[in-house]
Amino acid sequence: MSQNGKIPFVDLVTPHKELQNELVAVFQEALQTAGFVGGPMVEGFERDFAEFCDAKFCVGVNSGTDALRFALMAAGVRPGDIVLTVSMTFIATTEAISQAGARPDFIDVDERTYTMDPEKLKAYLRDQCEIDPATGRAMHRKLKKPVTAVVPVHLYGQTADMDPILETAARHRLVVIEDACQAHGAEYFSKKENRWRKAGSMGHAAGFSFYPGKNLGACGEGGAVTTNDEGIARTVRMIRDHGQSKKYYHDIEGYNGRLDSIQAGLLRVKLKHLPRWNQQRVECAQRYNELLATMSGSITLPFQPKWSKHVYHLYVVRTPRREELQTHLNEAGIGTGIHYPIPVHMQRAYDSMGWKRGDFPITEEASEQILSLPMYGGLRSDQQRRVADMVAEFASIRSTV
Ligand SMILES: Cc1ncc(COP(=O)(O)O)c(C=O)c1O
Repeated sequence: MSQNGKIPFVDLVTPHKELQNELVAVFQEALQTAGFVGGPMVEGFERDFAEFCDAKFCVGVNSGTDALRFALMAAGVRPGDIVLTVSMTFIATTEAISQAGARPDFIDVDERTYTMDPEKLKAYLRDQCEIDPATGRAMHRKLKKPVTAVVPVHLYGQTADMDPILETAARHRLVVIEDACQAHGAEYFSKKENRWRKAGSMGHAAGFSFYPGKNLGACGEGGAVTTNDEGIARTVRMIRDHGQSKKYYHDIEGYNGRLDSIQAGLLRVKLKHLPRWNQQRVECAQRYNELLATMSGSITLPFQPKWSKHVYHLYVVRTPRREELQTHLNEAGIGTGIHYPIPVHMQRAYDSMGWKRGDFPITEEASEQILSLPMYGGLRSDQQRRVADMVAEFASIRSTV
């Protein structure tokens, strides 16, 4: 518990204090060499992160949003295309799609994992699309636009069910861009390949975020694209740097979307600790599972299928009386979060798109019931016990009213 007895939702101070000397050394090196943009810190981190993800290439960029947008563009998504994703995500997923010039459309999620339901992806392509004889690609019947890509979101630290998604995508020639912004180190057991596969190594490319609260977070903004495709890596490198392949030779118009050298250096230091931090999160999740097991009648615990190695970016429970549980925990000094309270298709930003309540019912119901409990490597067992006691208290109040 913190000194005032409160249990924060996340603790970003302690891990930085523990690594202070190593992190300060990165600043000192940058100051001494004036290596602020590009250079060995960025290249070193890119090598290490590619290896961590079992991917051939990693390109550091400004943010997870940039990573997704650049990956979509580099993989060939064009203005006027439709790109499928889920509404159960942070809006950055659809911002990246729209800003690549495409139109996002949604597939509802699986009720237990909250990730894209592969059967519904299949049904969308079967029921709403037809094959365009000219291109051989899926064409949306009503919108008269080609469906060219799918962005499964590896939500809360757990991958989507990738085998069937990859199979359907291959059958319809869809580009697959993984939104791995919450899933650094998560793994998926592919029956097809009979091996565990890392988030960020399964699609044509993937986008990662290094926003400070992520399992691997920068001390500011940051992101990366991972890919096994040399052409995509090359194009992302150009897009992030004003479209130049050589200084002042601009083959295309790009963006100022580079990963800062200092952030890359800090991330490289922190990456060495990521396997341990992820393991601590897994242990915290197991402890919550045990402590909360008896309350499974009142709250639903996270579901981890056999094919998943979850890295618990978030530990998300579910109850129809979410607001009351959140207030109860808040009054006990326990921080919580909601990821996310309004599904993307119901955000005001998309009022003009014509989506409405009822379009994606699993997502809509989940977003009214989910609650993220405190979760981070340094969360102690006595703190978790207190959280569980307070959840139990809530459940007992509930059963007596
Ligand atoms: C699922 C998901 N996608 C995309 C992003 C965007 O990442 P960033 O904030 O680094 O742009 C985030 C970050 O919160 C995310 O959680």
